[in-house]
Amino acid sequence: MKMNELSIGFVGGGNMAQAIIRGLLAAGHRPDRLYVSDPSAESRQALAEMHGNIRLQNDNAELAGLCDVLVLAVKPQVLPDVARQLATTERAASQLVISIAAGVTMASLRGWFSDSKRIVRVMPNTPALIGAGMAGLYADHDLDSIARGWADYVMEATGESLWVSDEALIDAVTAVSGSGPAYFFLVMEAMQEVAMEMGFDEQQARLLTTRTAAGAGLLASASDESAAVLRERVTSPGGTTAAALEQLEQGGIRDIFRKALNAAQKRAVELGKHELGDS
Ligand SMILES: NC(=O)c1ccc[n+]([C@@H]2O[C@H](COP(=O)([O-])OP(=O)(O)OC[C@H]3O[C@@H](n4cnc5c(N)ncnc54)[C@H](OP(=O)(O)O)[C@@H]3O)[C@@H](O)[C@H]2O)c1
Repeated sequence: MKMNELSIGFVGGGNMAQAIIRGLLAAGHRPDRLYVSDPSAESRQALAEMHGNIRLQNDNAELAGLCDVLVLAVKPQVLPDVARQLATTERAASQLVISIAAGVTMASLRGWFSDSKRIVRVMPNTPALIGAGMAGLYADHDLDSIARGWADYVMEATGESLWVSDEALIDAVTAVSGSGPAYFFLVMEAMQEVAMEMGFDEQQARLLTTRTAAGAGLLASASDESAAVLRERVTSPGGTTAAALEQLEQGGIRDIFRKALNAAQKRAVELGKHELGDS
């Protein structure tokens, strides 16, 4: 079967599901092979506007019985209910279950979907909403290559994917790329504030900071050089960039980021334990 003919079902048709579906449609996936169930009229409307031929279902269980790939795209707190609804549904033994629910562990997924042999846990991030996402993927070591290919196909519709070999690293993915966009937003916010103090209006300050952030990100992604080399290249001794970077280093920016990412990772571990009910 061609990838674009896989039947892919989404339980929950909110922001993330819509982002993945948009990406799949743009990549040429057959709309009549995409199924979504969602109680929200708003989400259903958005999906119908995206492509009239997407199959909108009322019933999660019915949807789950129809698809090769089942994407669990509801909020984490809703997932136990959804799992209960699906527990008695006849689903293909080959079906791949993908959970994008933050903090929901493989142990929980294995417990809830005990009939499923193929399960992937994903940690996406918000730039997925514009096709610029970075997702971490984890599966038990025995997941076959076909299922891995399906998971890549689905997640690459919203950006890049990275498989991790140890589930604990999903907490690190959460700390780096899951929460990461907010760190860059904070930096932009701070730069924008100062730009306004320097005399720019809000719109000008926003343009200067957001385009600089986007440009730096694109340059770093496109380049084979490390971020350190790119930074050194724009830093002439005694120049303006050097004056600014000296302040950031003196202020302990590296240590601040170390503390921040470690705090996020620790919190992700705690939330995962809480979700398992053992804390
Ligand atoms: N957005 C992100 O940046 C991000 C990042 C990492 C991970 N995630 C994960 O992605 C998942 C989805 O997030 P989201 O931002 O797309 O959330 P969302 O926009 O709230 O979408 C969830 C959708 O599921 C619907 N829903 C609620 N109960 C349902 C049920 N029983 N059966 C079927 N659908 C149901 C909701 O409808 P109602 O609105 O009517 O409740 C809503 O339309 C979450 O688990 C989140 O942890 C999101």
